[in-house]
Amino acid sequence: MAINFKDYIASVPDFPEPGIIFRDISPLMADGKAYAAATDEIVEYAKDKGVEMIVGPEARGFIVGCPVAYKLGVGFAPARKKGKLPRETVSASYDLEYGEATLYLHTDAIRPGQRVLVCDDLLATGGTIAATIELVEKLGGIVVGTAFLVELVDLHGRDKIKQYDIFTLTDYQ
Ligand code: PRP
Ligand code: HPA
Repeated sequence: MAINFKDYIASVPDFPEPGIIFRDISPLMADGKAYAAATDEIVEYAKDKGVEMIVGPEARGFIVGCPVAYKLGVGFAPARKKGKLPRETVSASYDLEYGEATLYLHTDAIRPGQRVLVCDDLLATGGTIAATIELVEKLGGIVVGTAFLVELVDLHGRDKIKQYDIFTLTDYQ
């Protein structure tokens, strides 16, 4: 029987702040069948796109992107937070509720012209994914799609990445 992915996402009121309902993917990851099914859905979405590389932002983008890379038989490059990557990097900044954050990618992570699928657990305001896409494009990569487990529709993240193809497994208002 088809899996209802919402059954595997915990909704946690007032985390990390009062008034926020946090959508927690831990139960999905904890269930081997649900985690595999989620991975397979993204693989199915990606399989005809000629994907050559997956990029995912720290930390939960690794959880989603790595098994997809394994199944597609392609590599994975982590977009990391400040001070984590040891060699030459490119960087892209994005807005947080208070302040700014920056993501980094090794300059040799993507070759010019490589076809890249960007994966993350959740699309909220879209800042993280837009910065990740910017990193890939700075290196000459072609973003052929973006894939998420969860979309928080009211935060309008998809407006920031309008020109890209978007796959989401499930969404919340
Ligand atoms: C969360 C989530 C996404 C991002 C979504 O990551 O995993 O990457 O926020 O929000 P946005 O669309 O508004 O940018 P977070 O920055 O909390 O990092 P973590 O995965 O290391 O917890
Ligand atoms: N859940 C998980 N990560 C998030 C959320 C959420 O509701 N909002 C922004 N990042």
